Order: sequence, then structure tokens, then C-alpha cells
Amino acid sequence: MTLSEFPVVFPPDFPDATGLLHLTETGSTNDEARRLFASQLEGHVSPIWIMTDRQVSGRGRMGRNWSSPEGNLMTSLMCKPQCDLATMGQLGFVAGLAVQASIQEMTSLRAKLKWPNDVLIEGAKCAGILLETLSNEAQDIGLAIGIGVNLQHHPTDTPYPAISLNAAAGVSPTTRDMIKVLALHFDRLRVLWESKGFFAIRTLWLEQAYGIGKEITAVLTNESLTGIFRDIDAEGRLLLEKSDGSIHLIAAGDIFFGAAKGKIND
Ligand code: BTN
Repeated sequence: MTLSEFPVVFPPDFPDATGLLHLTETGSTNDEARRLFASQLEGHVSPIWIMTDRQVSGRGRMGRNWSSPEGNLMTSLMCKPQCDLATMGQLGFVAGLAVQASIQEMTSLRAKLKWPNDVLIEGAKCAGILLETLSNEAQDIGLAIGIGVNLQHHPTDTPYPAISLNAAAGVSPTTRDMIKVLALHFDRLRVLWESKGFFAIRTLWLEQAYGIGKEITAVLTNESLTGIFRDIDAEGRLLLEKSDGSIHLIAAGDIFFGAAKGKIND
């Protein structure tokens, strides 16, 4: 399939030269991003937001499912960042900030960020982000920034409590209004990231972070660590200080607030 076979439009209310592909139903918008990137030839790749009304095999971090009922925003930004693979991970923080700013612009709610890139309202998760790398025949590397926002609905059986904007505020924006605002905030923050680097994003992220200075339990692949959430470093890793004073740098994992997994202390 070539790009012209995908019904991509370039809406006037989106950032310049940014496309939108609106599907009725798909398995996962991250898989659509993979197909779309594979159809691109070597050279410039326009960023394209892919959104779907229904997602039947939505996936989350750590191999989990992502509940994707109609009314919620399920989207992936397909893009080709001009940086190395390790640096691309910083766009997860850019995306988290963009989602947080969009929720605050579209509702009266106060949203916070939970490491690495969840968005919380009243301490419960209302949005998550899944980054996946992409490639094409020319061996170019791209990125799918998959974003799910619980606008109308939220699951009740998740390891971390979930909430929707509708449950928290009594109303929620439409998916089309939300993706427009999200695309604009993401573009604004991407420009900041490209011009000033991760330092500027990290500063903004820390201002909106949930739980700095509090006790957390970090659940890693083979162990759990409990300690104080001190900071994130120049690469976005979480700094956890154990009671013996030792500092642990955490690159990937899930965090829970409090000493035991699942216990939330605000
Ligand atoms: C997480 O918090 O676990 C990440 C959730 C990411 C969900 C979004 S919905 C759009 C995109 N497509 C997917 O299959 N997953 C991401």
C-alpha cells in the first residue's frame, strides 16, 4: 500500500503539514502507524495522527490490554524524529505533557503526570502512552506514539485505579475536539524539545509530576523497590532513594504510591 491509498487529510485546524487519518474501527492504531510508516519512501515523512472510533485489540505498556470503547480517544502519532533511537524515548514525556495540557484546556480538571507518562486526575489514571519504534524498507526508523485518553469511559479492573473525564467532570470533549487540541499542544512542545532539548521538557514535566518526595513502590521485571521518588534524570530515568540512602535509577517499570503495590497515598 502506498500513502495515497490511506485516506489521510491535512485539516486546517491542525499544525502545519500534519495529517489526520480517521478510521471507524481497527485492531490498534499503533499497528496502523506501522503500516503507514512502512508505506513511506525514504526521505521526508509528514507526521500523521491516526485515530479510530473503535479499537478491538488495543494494547498498553508491559503487554497489558488497553480498554478502547467508543467515545474514548484512541490515537497514534506516526512520525520520523530526527534523532537517535535512545533520544526518541524523550517524546513520551513530550506527549504526556501535551495530554495533560489538553485535558486542562478542555475541562476544568487539574491533571498530573505519573512517571513515565501516564496522566492522572484525582490520583486515578485517565490517559496512557505507548511508544513503539517503526521501520520501512529503506531501514529508516520512525516512532508510533500511541495515546489513549478515557473521555467517556474507564475500566474498573486495572492494577492502578482508572477514571474518565466524564466521571471526573460530568462532561467530556468529543474525540475530534480533543485530538485537535492534542495535536497543537504536542507540536508546541515538540518545537520546544527540538530547540531547547530535554532539559526544558524535564523542567515542565517535574512541575506537573505526581508524587515527587513521596514514598513509591517501583515494580520492575524481577523485583520491587520501595523508597522516595526524588527526581528524574537527564534521560528521563526515575531516581528512587531507598531507606538506606542508596539511589536507584529506574529506566522502565510501573510505580505505585505507598509501600505496597496498589496502595495509593496522596
Ligand atoms: C498504557 O498506559 O499502558 C499505554 C496505553 C496506550 C493506549 C493507546 S490507545 C491508542 C494506541 N493503540 C494501542 O493499541 N495502544 C495505544
